[in-house]
Amino acid sequence: MIEVKGVSKKFGKLVAVDDVSFAVGAGEVYGFIGPNGAGKSTTMKMLACLLTPDSGTAFVDGLDVTKDGDQIRRVIGYMPDVLGVYDDLTVEEYLHFFAAAFGLSRKNRVGTIDGVLELTDLTEKKKSMVDSLSRGMKQRLGVARVLVHDPKVLLLDEPASGLDPRARIEMRELLTELARMGKALIVSSHILSELGQMSSSIGIIERGKLLYTGSIGDAYARMGVGDRVRVKIEEDDDRLGPLCAAVKGDKRIGSAEVAGDSLLIEFAPGQKSHHFLIELLIAKGVRIASFTPETPRLEDAFMTLTKGQVQ
Ligand SMILES: Nc1ncnc2c1ncn2[C@@H]1O[C@H](COP(=O)(O)OP(=O)(O)OP(=O)(O)O)[C@@H](O)[C@H]1O
Ligand SMILES: [Mg+2]
Repeated sequence: MIEVKGVSKKFGKLVAVDDVSFAVGAGEVYGFIGPNGAGKSTTMKMLACLLTPDSGTAFVDGLDVTKDGDQIRRVIGYMPDVLGVYDDLTVEEYLHFFAAAFGLSRKNRVGTIDGVLELTDLTEKKKSMVDSLSRGMKQRLGVARVLVHDPKVLLLDEPASGLDPRARIEMRELLTELARMGKALIVSSHILSELGQMSSSIGIIERGKLLYTGSIGDAYARMGVGDRVRVKIEEDDDRLGPLCAAVKGDKRIGSAEVAGDSLLIEFAPGQKSHHFLIELLIAKGVRIASFTPETPRLEDAFMTLTKGQVQ
């Protein structure tokens, strides 16, 4: 649905986007990650036909961003990082305005708007003034607004920024649902762990350069980040030190450390089977109280790749 091929964009001497290539299929969420000023918004604006690439090509649903702007605008829903607010409108009027701008007849608008309100969980706020909504609701309204013309492609620039944990989870569920409906999504964010949970693939961009594009699993493998588990034992915690030393000797283990009342063990990159560790611990006479996989550390992969370089 989205194909970006060697796209670059300069502002004066500054190369904001430098030879970026990636692809996103229908039903996929592409997590677009990078520090401030990396070139995320600029890339998304080029896909939304708001900026023209200096070189390279990009296609949305087979349409060329440099030639087919009018058609592309009907296929995409673009949510900018800064949302324009229309203060003296109700939620319903706000959505009618955008639906009308997309040429939906009044009859069609009513059903469509009820549908997007339902999907974004704003039905109860239909008659509320836009400026009375909480930040999380405004963000959801921003998503509702880009759905009124039922686009196949969604370009969402930091839809979860400034949201509290619950609102973030709700946003994540909404975006996952949209992908399930078969839409292709590009979602930019600084919140890496959030993206990790909903993205099918990720792009890591810094100083305009795409440092990585592909699946999250491959990113970990390439960055040398192994799976981690936290092990608690039924015996005294002072056994943890010697156990840690013993485990470290195995070449399938990347690292091991005592963290409070547990052992924190990282497998060697690419080591997929974890069972040997349980066998190894049992062979040492250890009674395992719990063996818990830790959530993957997208942050670590990100830090390894970007080294904190920001322009
Ligand atoms: N209209 C513009 N004119 C001049 N420079 C610009 C313009 N838009 C963006 N830039 C520059 O291009 C670079 C990339 O900006 P961009 O907004 O794409 O970054 P970003 O990854 O979206 O960052 P953030 O996380 O802060 O939103 C920055 O150095 C920025 O200052
Ligand atoms: Mg931005």
